[in-house]
Amino acid sequence: MKLGRNDPCWCGSGKKLKRCHGSAPQTMMPRPPRNLQIMHGADLVKMRAACRLAANILDEVCERVTPGTNTETINQWVHDLTLAAGAYPSPLNYPKGETDPRAPKITPGGFPKSVCTSINDVVCHGIPKATDVLKDGDIVNIDVTVTLDGFYGDTSRTVYVGTPSADAKQVVETARECLDLGIKAVRPHGRLIEIGEAIFNYATKRGLGVVRDYTGHGIGRIFHAEPQVCHYPNKDSDCDLIPGMTFTIEPMINLGSWRTQLDHSDQWTVYTQDRKISAQFEHTILVTDQGSEILTLADRSA
Ligand code: MF3
Ligand code: CO
Ligand code: CO
Repeated sequence: MKLGRNDPCWCGSGKKLKRCHGSAPQTMMPRPPRNLQIMHGADLVKMRAACRLAANILDEVCERVTPGTNTETINQWVHDLTLAAGAYPSPLNYPKGETDPRAPKITPGGFPKSVCTSINDVVCHGIPKATDVLKDGDIVNIDVTVTLDGFYGDTSRTVYVGTPSADAKQVVETARECLDLGIKAVRPHGRLIEIGEAIFNYATKRGLGVVRDYTGHGIGRIFHAEPQVCHYPNKDSDCDLIPGMTFTIEPMINLGSWRTQLDHSDQWTVYTQDRKISAQFEHTILVTDQGSEILTLADRSA
């Protein structure tokens, strides 16, 4: 598919190719991402604000976690901090649409809480519960997404509860390094697949499993847009990296096998198939002319 200079740009802006991404290489293979999120000008200002808010909330709640904290308490912290900032906690009722956050009526199938809390062998999408009390030696991923002024910011971190085991340290530190390596692989007019290659090679060398069933994603005015950001090399979701693109990188790294299993009773919680522990870190990234910028940095860490 070769576009003419007067054809509508593939990025969905509605502008002519020559007025938009005319100078970018046209190798978005096998086809350009649907709903590609490209942020400039006023949109980028709002996107930055949403991402900064998500990061600030994540920072704040991670600091409060101690042995004895239950995950419903984490949910209440995230919910309250999000509403206080004039934003919506994006997981609540996802993907069924926003609900009244002060008296949420959850549509069947919608995510029932305002944050995901994934303990030990839970890979992602854990549902907060008052009965899930964190104990010394646990690890927990807290995944915060907010919608502010029409834009999404998405970031997560795995924290140690009390003193970590050697296994926990290995999986958590490798997951953290995998996110860093994935971010470093982002370069303007580079390829998306380089992110997956960097992450997969590093984790695999350490004998750890890289989850394939869940991926990063384009994000902006939409929570989950294309491209799919695979954390292993996948030619089918590869595309060019264009300055202005916004997406998440969120590697899930397992102590054992990469395979996952969905909890059949709640249809949300994702476990490792072998029930060994899993860790994850996530940032929302902007492709820049120089490389990349992490949008989900908290004010304190910026
Ligand atoms: N924040 C998750 C992500 O990184 C998505 C959570 S959707 C939910 O993409 F419904 F499970 F909350
Ligand atoms: Co995400
Ligand atoms: Co997330």
